[in-house]
Amino acid sequence: MNIMVTGGAGFIGSHIVDAYIREGHRVVVLDNLSTGKREQVHPDATLYALDLMDPKVKEIFQKENIEVINHHAAQISVTQSVADPAFDAEINIVGSLKLLQLAVSHQIHKFIFASTGGALYGEQDYFPADEEHPTQPMSPYGIAKLTVERYLNFYRENFNIQPKILRYSNVYGPRQDPHGEAGVVAIFCKQLLKDQQPVIFGDGEQTRDFVSVFDVVNANLKALAENCEGTYNVGTGKETSVNSIAASIIKASGKSFSPQHDPPRMGEQRRSSIDYGKFNREHGWQPAQPLDEGLKNTFDFFAHPSRAQVNPD
Ligand SMILES: NC(=O)c1ccc[n+]([C@@H]2O[C@H](COP(=O)([O-])OP(=O)(O)OC[C@H]3O[C@@H](n4cnc5c(N)ncnc54)[C@H](O)[C@@H]3O)[C@@H](O)[C@H]2O)c1
Repeated sequence: MNIMVTGGAGFIGSHIVDAYIREGHRVVVLDNLSTGKREQVHPDATLYALDLMDPKVKEIFQKENIEVINHHAAQISVTQSVADPAFDAEINIVGSLKLLQLAVSHQIHKFIFASTGGALYGEQDYFPADEEHPTQPMSPYGIAKLTVERYLNFYRENFNIQPKILRYSNVYGPRQDPHGEAGVVAIFCKQLLKDQQPVIFGDGEQTRDFVSVFDVVNANLKALAENCEGTYNVGTGKETSVNSIAASIIKASGKSFSPQHDPPRMGEQRRSSIDYGKFNREHGWQPAQPLDEGLKNTFDFFAHPSRAQVNPD
């Protein structure tokens, strides 16, 4: 298939591009390289270094015969979304709508959207949260993701778009960015490599659901199937505390630091985990990478970033 991956120079997108190419697809990457890196783009992919909002994006659709849009480009920082909600909305909402309009005018039906679980469900009523859990986003970033999900339903009803919404938990792995939703992993790795104590905000018992980027890639392979449509959680269903993440990364580093605790950050979510049962039942997806192994792999990437990172399976 001819697939456009927006954000294909970024952390998650670049791994998806690698996998699609490995599977024999033709890939076009649209990325403004604001956080993405040219060197992360697979050499067999065609890179258009353009902003989502650039009118020239239209020309890519005229030239390339795109059959699937996989939309990962976004402003990804929750903190930045609080500081500048209008900028967040421009990229994450209006940018997504521009793509959807192009999908309609070029009769592209398959639209994969990188949404979020943690930032969408907010403080959860039950654990792990399934797709039916009430959505109560606590940040403009989460509000924007939910808004695009709703637009996708509008486009499904009115314009024959087939939405494939993947709600990720906290994605970690090689090439990850400290500003993303699992940024704490990158931050601890970098602190340890500089021989600094990892800094934990608050008591460290706040939890997140850490899913490997390679499992997320697998979800994006399954999402290509004709019968895959709707909203799916992509996480592990397990809660892991920040203390436990710090301990695993310290172990992977072979160093003997103990974390330092700073005052808690205002408004930080306390617990999060999402239930992947629906994706498992309907499409056989399940997380495969053990957390300790994945964290070790990620630490090794930060220690030796020039080494090619190969999907462990
Ligand atoms: N990392 C996580 O834990 C996580 C969790 C849930 C959802 N997501 C979503 O997954 C997607 C990818 O996130 P990531 O962690 O790989 O982040 P990333 O910053 O590495 O990737 C985003 C990519 O989009 C590009 N980009 C940003 N603004 C753009 C614009 N206006 N035009 C064109 N390109 C633009 C960036 O250069 C970058 O390459 C995002 O949509 C994010 O919201 C990530």
